[in-house]
Amino acid sequence: MAVWTVYLSLCLLIPLSASALDPEKDSTVNLEARSLHLDCYPEAGSDQAKCEARGCIWEPSSVPNAPWCYYPETHGYVTTNVVETASGITVDIERNTAFPIQRSQSRDVNKLRVEITFLSGKSLRWKIFDPANARFEVPVPLELPATPETEENNRLYRVQIQDMPFGIQVIRKSSEEIIWDSAVPGFTFSDQFLQISTRLPSNYVYGVGETEHPVYSHDLNFHTYGLFAKDQPPGYKLNNYGVHPFHMGLEKSKNAHGVLLLNSNAMDVTFVPSPALTYRTIGGILDFYMVMGPTPEAVVQQYTEMIGRPVLPAYWSLGFQLCRYGYSNDAEIANLYNDMKAAKIPYDVQYADIDYMERQMDFTLDKQNFNGLPALVDNMRAEGMRFIFILDPAIAANETKGSYPAFDTGIEKDVFIKWPPQLSDDIVWGKVWPDYPNVEVDNSLDWDTQVKLFRAFVAFPDFFKNSTAEWWAGQIRDYYNNVMKFDGLWIDMNEPASFVHGTVGEKCLGDQTLENPPYMPPLESSYRGLNHKTMCMNSEQILDDGTRVKHYDVHNLYGWSHTKPTYDALLSTTGKRGVVITRSTYPSSGRWAGHWLGDNYSRWDQLLKSIIGMMEFSIFGIPYTGADICGFFNHAEYEMCLRWMQLGAFYPFSRNHNTINMPRQDPVAWGEEFAAVSRDVLNIRYTLLPYLNTLMYEAHAHGNTVVRPLLHEFVTDENTWKIDRQFLWGPALLITPALDPGVTVVRGYVPDARWYDYHTGQAVGVRGQFVDMDTPLWKINLHVRGGHILPWQKAESNTYYSRQNPLGLLVALDDGGLAHGSLFWDDGEGIDTVQNKRFLLTTFTASSGVLTSAVPTDGLAEADRLTLGQVKVWGVTAPVTRVTLSVTGQPDADLPFTYNAEIQELQFDATSHSHTIEKPFTITWI
Ligand code: NOJ
Repeated sequence: MAVWTVYLSLCLLIPLSASALDPEKDSTVNLEARSLHLDCYPEAGSDQAKCEARGCIWEPSSVPNAPWCYYPETHGYVTTNVVETASGITVDIERNTAFPIQRSQSRDVNKLRVEITFLSGKSLRWKIFDPANARFEVPVPLELPATPETEENNRLYRVQIQDMPFGIQVIRKSSEEIIWDSAVPGFTFSDQFLQISTRLPSNYVYGVGETEHPVYSHDLNFHTYGLFAKDQPPGYKLNNYGVHPFHMGLEKSKNAHGVLLLNSNAMDVTFVPSPALTYRTIGGILDFYMVMGPTPEAVVQQYTEMIGRPVLPAYWSLGFQLCRYGYSNDAEIANLYNDMKAAKIPYDVQYADIDYMERQMDFTLDKQNFNGLPALVDNMRAEGMRFIFILDPAIAANETKGSYPAFDTGIEKDVFIKWPPQLSDDIVWGKVWPDYPNVEVDNSLDWDTQVKLFRAFVAFPDFFKNSTAEWWAGQIRDYYNNVMKFDGLWIDMNEPASFVHGTVGEKCLGDQTLENPPYMPPLESSYRGLNHKTMCMNSEQILDDGTRVKHYDVHNLYGWSHTKPTYDALLSTTGKRGVVITRSTYPSSGRWAGHWLGDNYSRWDQLLKSIIGMMEFSIFGIPYTGADICGFFNHAEYEMCLRWMQLGAFYPFSRNHNTINMPRQDPVAWGEEFAAVSRDVLNIRYTLLPYLNTLMYEAHAHGNTVVRPLLHEFVTDENTWKIDRQFLWGPALLITPALDPGVTVVRGYVPDARWYDYHTGQAVGVRGQFVDMDTPLWKINLHVRGGHILPWQKAESNTYYSRQNPLGLLVALDDGGLAHGSLFWDDGEGIDTVQNKRFLLTTFTASSGVLTSAVPTDGLAEADRLTLGQVKVWGVTAPVTRVTLSVTGQPDADLPFTYNAEIQELQFDATSHSHTIEKPFTITWI
């Protein structure tokens, strides 16, 4: 086997000999490739003749889904030149012309350049491109180190180049494991079909979205997932709203790494049991980034350092939220609010979906049914509530000139997406919600007829242009100033979704291979073309530097491009940081927004899927996530909805939402018992919000996950590698929800640590085992990990009030009697409080009967200060006779306390001392 290693600081020129191109004669074949049968005919309709016409091998297999047509060992490219420098390796490669071209409609690029950059000691990039012709590259800015890591000893990895077939191997030096190995057959680089495979170092791979996955740890038995942003409810193997070509992989050494393919074309990813995976994309270049961890948390920290750390959402957005599509008028919302208040169920945010608009047009108000909404919003906000409304990107186009400023000013500022000028100077018209003016919509007609008869034309803003961002901000500002107030924005339908396919009339202009490419990834309704339910791929978009690009290349970035302008507009309009929720995401969308998991179903299986979805978005760097609680489509059922309220109380984004014409499913729609269970579990959420908020800060500042898979905390324990029916909040709270009908017991894993039952404070007797946990209808199992201190506050009707309560601490001692924790606290909604150090960071340590605090950062305004309240300590083994509070410069004070020997719980209360926690304190118990 021929190997180029980075140890050879030489410039190597490999002449392309005849034997190198003849697989029969070649002696440098990578023997390891022999057992890897990679699919040479992923399209439908494969047969022996078609397979062999591609120069591939036909061999029927009895293994379900295994390819019958696979690549010969030397198929691919060969290395012709390698130049190594201290900061990377440049490789020239040529197509092995011993094999026929793969797809005649897609021109092969015979000579390629590979640039490998040692970005840092823990990250590297390899970019494979055509040096002779510039191709589309993803315009999403990454934050890469200013200078590469040139010192070999500082790198966790080394890189080897294989020459036949060409491939890159990345080796983790500490374990000598090859963690990326693309020296396998099948590598293809043509205009509209690019394919690369790699062996995987273990069977444990996580991520690659956005699609619904039945399990968190991927099933590697030949499963392919298409990735292309689409207005598509989640379902098995259906591509939906966003695109994240990122995965985390575990290694046999129990280390973890992450890989991003920065490509925004339609693509697919196939997992095969070797283990290996194959990427196929239909445009752009192959631009890979790897982060080396070595822990799963470090992988996410390093990944988010590169794509941008997640936004810090406003504190109130961690409260419970209510929404539905189909409120008939503002009175319905007012009644709901009053009923929630009467039932004393905590909640912070009320939404209005497209119903509030006049004929579903952005920036309008339905004066007939929602005339009272602005006043209701004012009243609710005066009581500490917050309001979010929806905006769709598509702008209605059939209004009389002068009557609809959003469209008129959009035309003036030329913000809408058009055809390439050589084809037409017209806008690429679509249709979404808005109805034509002066029509009576006949809802009894089928959907397509309604779209045809009643839906207005719409234009899609090109959010890549700065002028569009300014126009959008202007509309948002005018609405806030002239129509009604809001605190956050919910952006929807930004795949972008259209109710016609391509354009009105359904004839896309220009190159039809853009609509129906030579290789079509397995996407929902792909037989209808890429423009199914979206705009034509040949539409033209203009980047802010003036570069003209095809929608074909940037379709998956539409939602991404919509997000920052919306977030910026929210901040500049309200003067507060608020929150943006977006449906379509791409790597780095988390810098400005959270994401809900889309139009799910009122079905039991969706509870588990929501945990998997949230864990995936955790590693995608978007921690503020959750699913529509109780499901969007179909009728929710009592028990399912109740269990979902319990699970949803632990979604970072906790919102109950459903669609039009479905019965109500909010917590006051089901009677007393339901309301009581909802109240109890939301009270727990609200009690723990200071902890959740601190985790959000950790995500924002350091890239830690919030909804955390168990394997992130216990990676050395292989039992945790497949767990997806339980999750953690940060390191310390284990959530074991009931996910099935009729259960009174749920099986859950208790990782190897000391744990306490959140409800009773009782230490759990087992560890490192699966156990049965009682889960009567009123109860979700929650466990606190010994060794951690969780900040909390007494729950109130909303966070405006709960934030004013004294700060409690829950000290859960570990086996050695130790615990630590921290609190992040700011004004809850100020802009850039972290960057400007306008916050308090307090750390807490408990050891040998002493609880101390330290204050690494104190930039908090006087008005936002917190006093120390009640403290619970779990795991105090000996009775206590005295508890004292000591603060520098003040005499020691006795604190009232109770000790419960049975559960080994000490409780004391500092409330009466009005001690504000920016001043370090020591509390001692003897
Ligand atoms: C689709 C969104 O996913 C859903 O949440 C919303 O209710 C409808 N659009 C109507 O706006």
